[in-house]
Amino acid sequence: MTQKQDSIKILAIESSCDDTAVAIINNGKILANIVSGQIEHSKYGGVIPELAGRAHLRNIGRVTEEAIIKSGIHVSELDAIAYTQGPGLMGSLLVGAQFAKGLAMGLKIPIIGVDHLKAHVAAHYIDEPIPEFPFVNLLVSGGHTQIALLENELKQDVLASTDDDAAGEAFDKAAKMLGLDYPGGPLLDKLAESGDPHKFKFPISQVGDTRFSFSGLKTSILYFIKENQARNPDFIESNLHDICASIRYTIVKTLLDKLEIHLVDKKVEHAGISGGVSANLLLRREFQKLCDKLGVQAHIPAFEYCTDNAGMIAITAHYKYLNSEFGTLQDQVFTRH
Ligand code: KG4
Ligand code: ZN
Repeated sequence: MTQKQDSIKILAIESSCDDTAVAIINNGKILANIVSGQIEHSKYGGVIPELAGRAHLRNIGRVTEEAIIKSGIHVSELDAIAYTQGPGLMGSLLVGAQFAKGLAMGLKIPIIGVDHLKAHVAAHYIDEPIPEFPFVNLLVSGGHTQIALLENELKQDVLASTDDDAAGEAFDKAAKMLGLDYPGGPLLDKLAESGDPHKFKFPISQVGDTRFSFSGLKTSILYFIKENQARNPDFIESNLHDICASIRYTIVKTLLDKLEIHLVDKKVEHAGISGGVSANLLLRREFQKLCDKLGVQAHIPAFEYCTDNAGMIAITAHYKYLNSEFGTLQDQVFTRH
């Protein structure tokens, strides 16, 4: 079957974790990008899968309607429906997948399953300037830490990934130990801005070029807090900014030291960061400095395409459509790779 190659209109759904998101794309241009967050998890200090699935079920119809109205197109004009196939939370993925399949069946159009991690990288292809291939990307989100070499819009080679916690989780868990509300990453980042990053020393994990690990850091922060609080119950309050700055420095250095190894090794001229943690102020500054030092062009997608969103699913689906990579109604979702 030959597919049309211009004016391709796709509705894309992202529901892998705790955000219900729907986007509509027309020939690679995002017409609507709606994200509905879920506040019900904040009082538990982390995402509760059962609650997330139920909230997706409540929200998905409304968010889809909102995206369609915002896009100004009629559903009968759609050429395909895309959804996040995985990785993610089973209950959350199932809601998006089944909703997408229902729409595709009803409209008699193809369905496209999208890998959430590849989509986080594809966020780079939404707005100019687009990185030139091949480029190396560091994906840092609440669920993932991955360095990949991109050869084209659909092909990537994973160069490094995490053994345990993701970078965002490391930030959030550190913030939780300091008594900050979930997800504490952004607040830790803000507090760190006026702190001394070298006041306290935390270990940088040495697990080789192809792996990341943040569990040692987590344990060392826990003991650091316990020992100091035993001596001084006000230790956290009186040193909060310096503690945040020192933790942030350690995580960012861990990420960028490894990125530098792969940038040099692959001799690329373009590099990117993507995922929710690419909002981190120190990471952004230091990434830019690293790229300047290596003579590499730095790319960071707009913030709305860094955190979980359906725009990145839509742009990936656009390229899959061009390549005739369609799914079936029998396709299963997957929680991990
Ligand atoms: O990409 P994302 O929205 O969701 C996942 O796919 O996981 O990333 C969310 C993660 C959370 O862990 C959040 O704390 C972290 O990104 N994050 C930050 C900052 N902004 C968001 N971490 C550190 N500094 C920030 N400024
Ligand atoms: Zn994500």
